[in-house]
Amino acid sequence: MDVIEAIKARKSIRAFKPDPIPRTILEDILRTASLSPSAANIQPWEFVVVTGETLKKLTQANIDKSKAGETGSWDLRRGAGRSQVPEVYLKRLVAIQTRIQAQMNYIREDKEKRAEWMQRGFRYFGAPAVIIITMEKSLGDTHFFDIGIVTQTICLAAVEHGLGTCIQGQGVMYPNMIREMFGIPDSKHLVIAIAIGYPDWSHPANQMKSDRESLENLSTWFGFKE
Ligand SMILES: Cc1cc2nc3c(=O)[nH]c(=O)nc-3n(C[C@H](O)[C@H](O)[C@H](O)COP(=O)(O)O)c2cc1C
Repeated sequence: MDVIEAIKARKSIRAFKPDPIPRTILEDILRTASLSPSAANIQPWEFVVVTGETLKKLTQANIDKSKAGETGSWDLRRGAGRSQVPEVYLKRLVAIQTRIQAQMNYIREDKEKRAEWMQRGFRYFGAPAVIIITMEKSLGDTHFFDIGIVTQTICLAAVEHGLGTCIQGQGVMYPNMIREMFGIPDSKHLVIAIAIGYPDWSHPANQMKSDRESLENLSTWFGFKE
């Protein structure tokens, strides 16, 4: 598979088969992704890779916290709340949420179904493995850029192995619990989680392909002859 094919084939997978992923494959993906560029080649990423019984404990702890009504917070959630998101971006956000809700046959007002969907997220959509990416806080915000690059590279390398991924802010919504469970010090950000596994293509959540804004609306060009 070439790079362009992999970029086009990747999409967020929100239902997985339970089949385990051999450790050698996960190692191969992470070694490949570690070739990503980073500012001054700092390579700020560190990977916490979780599967099996430990993953079960992690998902259960997420569910317990969510059922106890703990709202949680993602380390990276800063800046404007939803009410301040400019209209142009809000439209895209609402569009994807509406698409997911339609695909999953529920409406936002149905509290029970919404909670069910949230819990699927806290279970990493049934993925047999999860990669949590951490970064030393003292490195500063510039290096979040590097984490973004390595995250996408992991997702693309996964495609080559027939694996699907979902990048999940929700996966690190209870950072203190995760810190305690895996001995991650307070000096590190829990930047993001990636659910990874073999896609369950029969599941409605995986039938969806998200839209993209047209290039005309996203680019301005100067100095071209035509
Ligand atoms: C930083 C980041 C956080 C995300 N968090 C979540 C999440 O918590 N739950 C989820 O279902 N999808 C999450 N996504 C996936 C996006 O919704 C998805 O990438 C976007 O809708 C585009 O769809 P695609 O990945 O299928 O192309 C996240 C993506 C990124 C980049």
